[in-house]
Amino acid sequence: MEQRLRWHIYPDMAELTSRLVAAVSRISSSAVRQNGRFRVVLAGGNTPVPLYERLRDRGAVRRTWEVYLGDERCLPEGDPERNDRMIRETLFPDPGEWPVFATIPSELGPDAAAAHYAGILAPIGEFDLVLLGLGQDGHTASLFPGSDLGTQGGADPVLPVRQAPKPPSERVTLSAARLGRAASVFFMVSGTGKREAIQAWLRGEKIPAAAIRPAGGVDVFLDYEAMPAFRVPGALSRLP
Ligand code: 6PG
Repeated sequence: MEQRLRWHIYPDMAELTSRLVAAVSRISSSAVRQNGRFRVVLAGGNTPVPLYERLRDRGAVRRTWEVYLGDERCLPEGDPERNDRMIRETLFPDPGEWPVFATIPSELGPDAAAAHYAGILAPIGEFDLVLLGLGQDGHTASLFPGSDLGTQGGADPVLPVRQAPKPPSERVTLSAARLGRAASVFFMVSGTGKREAIQAWLRGEKIPAAAIRPAGGVDVFLDYEAMPAFRVPGALSRLP
């Protein structure tokens, strides 16, 4: 299946974050109305921090949320570089509002942690929303160029990663196929460092981000800085 892309370009991070807050809130409310819960996969890295903080300040996170991780870094429990710690501290620091949070026990090492998380995800069908970041080399979650992306439906849903170019080298990641089992997939991309990856994606190169192919398509939210060739608003119509 082809990847269907929709591009949403905003002047700066503040505007980008506001739009995402609104979109996430809309999707979560509708999921809770329909199914009594909101199943969301969250990204690590720095880009989503303002989004998580805004959602927290808005009181958006509820006990009806089920939060999963797209990837985790193999570091000791509680390490400040772990994605679960960053998400807990920025999104729901107040224990009164803790959602279900299915963390990846990456302290066990990539293989054991991947097997454990595959068990957690086994009864879970389609996610309501998968939020992803984009690396300078086109990676997403911990799916790096040249590694097994797990694109086929029969692939393991959770993959151990041993030689990641972004430290730490050992990680655990959902496969491309598992990340694509979602009603909505949003990428959040900001800053000049991401231009080359965006250009490669637009050119149709097989970067890992291009391997996420949900049936409903992918929405990429980015700021002007990440989109150098299209900084002039009048040029936006040239986008695919
Ligand atoms: C991680 C990630 C990774 C991240 C991108 C973008 O844990 O490292 O999940 O895929 O989203 O590398 O990171 P930044 O947002 O920090 O640029």
